[in-house]
Amino acid sequence: MEMQIKSKKRVQQLAEIYTAKNEVILITDLIKDLSEKIDSKFLEPSCGNGNFLCEILNRRLLRLKKTYKKKMDFEFFLIKATASLYGIDIDKDNIVETKNRMFKTIANYKNNINNEKIFIILKKILDTNILIGDALKENTDLFSSGDDLIFINYTSPKMFYFKKIFYNFNDLKLNITKPIKTEKITYYLDL
Ligand SMILES: C[S@@+](CC[C@H](N)C(=O)[O-])C[C@H]1O[C@@H](n2cnc3c(N)ncnc32)[C@H](O)[C@@H]1O
Repeated sequence: MEMQIKSKKRVQQLAEIYTAKNEVILITDLIKDLSEKIDSKFLEPSCGNGNFLCEILNRRLLRLKKTYKKKMDFEFFLIKATASLYGIDIDKDNIVETKNRMFKTIANYKNNINNEKIFIILKKILDTNILIGDALKENTDLFSSGDDLIFINYTSPKMFYFKKIFYNFNDLKLNITKPIKTEKITYYLDL
């Protein structure tokens, strides 16, 4: 049976009631085109154990499998599909579970992947995109630092290459879109 709560204490402390699978499907259907678009960006600011992120990732994987028969193409677009999904949750266990579930979703498609390095790269991307943090924290200090959440925009200026651009989540909330750092363009297997 599907469990929507872990404990009464966690419901009280974290408002932690997971969305049921059928509701996740119905809600994601409302944004069907965007959810399946390989590199459209999603940030779930209270992602729980990853119900929505896994649903979106799975839809994208199905699409990738149909579209890209060459493994190199599949790998490149898989990185794009994963790197455009972001999550925050205040609870460490939820973040660990989200990352594990997303990784398992990807591992179901291992036959479409040629280079084992892809799994290491995707683990690194999940570590930088799915973060422990307080998404509601009010922070109006332009020069804040320390526990700020940093997100990476994985842009791809050309096929098989990525360029990482780093943003402070606090800046983005204040509509400041100036990056804090930009890295040089990198071949996808060297990410
Ligand atoms: C109602 S659950 C929803 C989980 C998931 N989005 C889903 O639909 O299955 C709310 C989630 O918000 C997280 N949460 C509570 N306060 C938060 C905060 N200030 N910042 C980030 N996450 C928070 C909880 O840990 C919990 O996982």
